[in-house]
Amino acid sequence: MYLTNEEEKILDGEYGEVLRRCINLLVSLGDIYGAEKLIPISSAQISGVSYKTIKDIGLEFLEDLAKEDVKVKVYSTLNPAGMDLDLWKELGINEEFAKKQLRIIDAFKKMGIEIGCTCTPYLTGNLPKFGEHISWAESSAVSFANSVLGAKTNREGGPAALASAIIGKTPYYGYHLDENRRTTHIIELDENLISNFKYKESFYGALGYLVGKIVKNGVPYFKNLYQLNPKNDDLKSLGAAMAASGGVALYHAEELTAECKVKDVVDDKVEKIIVGVEDIKEAYENLNTTNDEPDLICIGCPHCSLIEIKKIAEILKDKKLDADLWVCCSLHIKAMADRMGYTKIIEKAGGRVVKDTCMVVSPIEDLGYKNVATNSGKAAVYLPSFCKSEVIFGDVDEIIKGR
Ligand code: F3S
Repeated sequence: MYLTNEEEKILDGEYGEVLRRCINLLVSLGDIYGAEKLIPISSAQISGVSYKTIKDIGLEFLEDLAKEDVKVKVYSTLNPAGMDLDLWKELGINEEFAKKQLRIIDAFKKMGIEIGCTCTPYLTGNLPKFGEHISWAESSAVSFANSVLGAKTNREGGPAALASAIIGKTPYYGYHLDENRRTTHIIELDENLISNFKYKESFYGALGYLVGKIVKNGVPYFKNLYQLNPKNDDLKSLGAAMAASGGVALYHAEELTAECKVKDVVDDKVEKIIVGVEDIKEAYENLNTTNDEPDLICIGCPHCSLIEIKKIAEILKDKKLDADLWVCCSLHIKAMADRMGYTKIIEKAGGRVVKDTCMVVSPIEDLGYKNVATNSGKAAVYLPSFCKSEVIFGDVDEIIKGR
């Protein structure tokens, strides 16, 4: 792999051990995947933030790095943590977990990373432009950045994204190269499907779940999805589910996503898959693991936009919930929901707007929840394994019953 003189010096340890370790990780990754060089990035998004997932070993690693007074070179943001950083007591998070989680956040802050913990950084200021190279780790955010925005990132692991943030560069391979961004499968929705699922928002999670399972880590091209007029929230939900059930990091959708509007990304010779009503019904059946009533309803995977929170507030106006409700979002969106009065309506019904965390990376299994209702295909895939819970999957107005 070609390295500049400056990069060679970093690798030789002339700028200290931390930088040497970071560039060494990037060069090793580049060697494995055949990268010819390192390229500058404009932003990083770092995962491995929740104490639930990184445990003591991750905490010690981050504190060791922070002690060396190393700062990130590019704008960098964090994935969700294991709890709401302010209201953790109200959620029932135990003190030991909370203390360690706050130490993790403190270590990231010392490195100059913005500590708004969210998987939708593109809603809160980490918004790359078309064609920009970035190093992002959260799979749903990677999908949104690559597909909807047309930025370029691989699906990085937490340590690689952090190393890239510190060096300001990433190895040039995978989705940074145009030749790897071409379509591998064409997905066409049949006519019946389009008329049957026109107004269901959970449809995008079910479709993503189904397509991710079929194409694995391929690059699907949605031929006629635009006929359903999906919003940005629908596209984030679709991408998140494909990344969870398969390994999709990039998709194209005719008339909707960035790259296929300006480039030829599709080859007619690739496999074509027709998705029908029965396929989607089966996806809903697979995602629903119980007929029991939920003890927790979780909305916001990926983290909610303000529009999604507004819809929940409208459903809950003058109602009382029968189960606990977490509406997960970023600190920034929560501040707007507070100001718009949505939080008050949701709280009056018995729910909470929870920031900084989500139902998957917080320890909900330790809080006694067993049956979780969600409108997210990604959460429905992860909840049984990450949180040992049963899943009720459906539209927001179906799963939020209320009296
Ligand atoms: Fe985000 Fe958590 Fe879902 S990190 S995409 S809300 S699993």
